[in-house]
Amino acid sequence: MTIYNLGSINIDNFYRVPHMPAPGETLAANEHSVGLGGKGANQSVASARAGAQVSHIGAVGPEGDWCVEVLTHAGVDTRHIARAEVATGHANILVDPEGENQIVLFPGANRAFASGHVAGALSTAGPGDTLILQNETEMTVEAATLAKAKGLRVIYSAAPFVAADAKAMLPVIDMLVLNEVEAQQLTDALGVGLADLEVPVVLITKGADGAVWIENGVETAQVPAFPVTPVDTTGAGDCFIGYVAAGLDQGMSPEEAMRLGAAASAIKVTRFGTADAIPSRDEVDHFLQG
Ligand code: RIB
Ligand code: NA
Repeated sequence: MTIYNLGSINIDNFYRVPHMPAPGETLAANEHSVGLGGKGANQSVASARAGAQVSHIGAVGPEGDWCVEVLTHAGVDTRHIARAEVATGHANILVDPEGENQIVLFPGANRAFASGHVAGALSTAGPGDTLILQNETEMTVEAATLAKAKGLRVIYSAAPFVAADAKAMLPVIDMLVLNEVEAQQLTDALGVGLADLEVPVVLITKGADGAVWIENGVETAQVPAFPVTPVDTTGAGDCFIGYVAAGLDQGMSPEEAMRLGAAASAIKVTRFGTADAIPSRDEVDHFLQG
């Protein structure tokens, strides 16, 4: 079936820095590179590399044609990527020697959505298909509501975290994906425990501690993370989500899909970059057999 992703497309500017700059500090980077990013685009590339049929719904500005080409080259259907007048979204990403990042994001064209665009893209979608969303575009509640009415599986990553946005999404999604920090922020904001969130499935990613699947308030599956030495964790969560969604689409159990996602993101963190650093399915299968 098809995995639709209503999601951000960014031009990622990477700077490898000796340390994170202090306020007022001017810092020379050791290295600079530019690549495709955006949480949505990264997820779409991951799902496509995992072998899924993927359709990306998004927008780029006048200088974003190459981003669309990279997505097309990765096997993503880009018919529903609009051309906006405003600049393509971009991110300035600092990566330190431990592989941790700091990101400044300019949303640009990712905020240039019309409801007709999303509805048009989902016009032939139906049961068995999936919609993935995160917080870097608008129209997420509208898209999730529409998708749910059409019988799609709706997966939402509450990143970057905004409590009000996450809260508005809860009634219209099937699966909520949170990292541990986001999980803490959301439960604090709502004043409830994780098991009491009113979402059928909550998937918690715990970095080096793996991932946990909570279904109707009960922890039903968990996977460990694969031990690797990270050089750049940027987009690791996106890679995980894209792979998990593809695994579920291919009929895998939650545990199998999370294992696939954990392997894919373990490979990703050993490489610099975002979309470019997402491994192919062959690499992931080989890693799992190794
Ligand atoms: O999750 C990583 C992504 O966050 C980067 O690709 C950057 O574009 C920001 O959106
Ligand atoms: Na991420």
